[in-house]
Amino acid sequence: MQLKTRIIFGQFEEELRRLDLSGRGLLCCRRGFGGGLGWLDLRTIRVSPEPTLEDAERCWDELAGENFDYVLAVGGGSVLDMAKILAARMVNPGPIEGFLGVDRIENPPKPVIAVPTTHGTGSEVTKYAVLRVSGGKTSVVSEKICPSVAVVDPALTLGLPKELTIYTSIDALCHNLEAYFTRFADPLVDLICEDGVRLFFEGIEGAIADELQGRRKLMLCSVLGGVAITNTQTFLVHALSHVLGGRFGVPHGMANSLFLRAFLEFCRGDEKFGLLERRLGLDLIAELDAFYRRHSLKGLSDFVDEREALELAGRAYANRRLVEGGRMKAGKEDLEGIVLRSLRS
Ligand SMILES: [Fe+2]
Repeated sequence: MQLKTRIIFGQFEEELRRLDLSGRGLLCCRRGFGGGLGWLDLRTIRVSPEPTLEDAERCWDELAGENFDYVLAVGGGSVLDMAKILAARMVNPGPIEGFLGVDRIENPPKPVIAVPTTHGTGSEVTKYAVLRVSGGKTSVVSEKICPSVAVVDPALTLGLPKELTIYTSIDALCHNLEAYFTRFADPLVDLICEDGVRLFFEGIEGAIADELQGRRKLMLCSVLGGVAITNTQTFLVHALSHVLGGRFGVPHGMANSLFLRAFLEFCRGDEKFGLLERRLGLDLIAELDAFYRRHSLKGLSDFVDEREALELAGRAYANRRLVEGGRMKAGKEDLEGIVLRSLRS
């Protein structure tokens, strides 16, 4: 277990002041940022949701010739991921396409200070940055892109719309569950994931009701999920959702939500599944079903037909890095089983 990121819990402006940032910074955000950051010398760049490789190159072109001492990212997963890529590009020659894959970043990037405004991706502590590339999703995977500092302030998530709250939270739940069933999980990762899953079920209704206590639990669930996947990786839900997101434009958290139940059924035969349920005192699939019903969540059949679903299982199976990382062997027929069950549930 290792962690490259210093994690600070607190009020984000206060904590940013305490960091004593000096020099010129690049501020990455979604829609502009109204917060009072006037004491910092910042150049702002806007990041679109679920950006493509071309978006990343465009952002870089927009900054041509400018120099920065650090990157401050305030936003959801897409903003944080883009900040990590731009910080890497500042000290590594392009094109950005060359960063895609595992350990392709040579020089340590400029420091990134990540301030998440959603509780989902855990990108503020991870070694991943995801881009849409030619009809799919591809990750930059490198410990060098882990943010230097994460400032975690759950109050920033207050006011997130219900749907975004549900689907980003499910992303965090998936990170905890998938990491738990990889072959890289160690006893500390197990504890982290167990607590991450517990916090999801304890906090989700409060978070949906926009109560700070629920938001706190989900933010912690998200950070724990990020710590877990950066020490392991994700597994079949993300292998499938990356294809669905890239091909059909389904947002990341929602795409994950469509496969999670069937993934848990796939895991049910593994001894760690029973162990997890005993530790949590929960019937996981029943809890999840009740939650999906309560909030009338969509199903896979709302997006694809059987032929398309089987095709996406085939493409997900080609993601050898994720498919071969599990505790249990996953064949193409297992992925097909998951998509077919997801279509019918
Ligand atoms: Fe994710």
